[in-house]
Amino acid sequence: MAERTLAIIKPDAVKKKAAGKIIQRIEEEGFTISALKMLHITKEEAEGFYAVHKDKPFFNSVTDFMSSGPIIVMILEGESAINHWRRVMGKTDPAMAEPGTLRHSYGFDIQFNGMHGSDAPETATFEIGYFFKDE
Ligand code: CMP
Repeated sequence: MAERTLAIIKPDAVKKKAAGKIIQRIEEEGFTISALKMLHITKEEAEGFYAVHKDKPFFNSVTDFMSSGPIIVMILEGESAINHWRRVMGKTDPAMAEPGTLRHSYGFDIQFNGMHGSDAPETATFEIGYFFKDE
């Protein structure tokens, strides 16, 4: 089923200049990038985005991290885009991610893991709307 998901290239991957290679992989995987922008979010915007994690021990540090530098947010479209993008990223913890996945190649640890993807259709709707309100 054709679907949309939100992908984010996080501050660590932007800083290490991996964004081009990540976008190239996205295109090679057959996704259509239907929207893309670079932005530097505030701590409050990161807290709103990760609100589902507000009771987790890593909430403060992940929202500091996500507001620490520019990110690239994209809407990816394609057949089963949510699960497809999650497979291409690999497991949340790069140490557990399979060789060939983007987090294996560009992630550092469970927090500085290079990129984000929506985990379900309802999350994708919320996350796309969070960054692409007008579009
Ligand atoms: P992401 O897929 O964007 O979803 C939530 C983010 O929180 C996750 O990637 C990591 O960047 C971060 N995260 C998840 N689990 C942990 C953890 N145990 N410790 C630190 N950061 C985490």
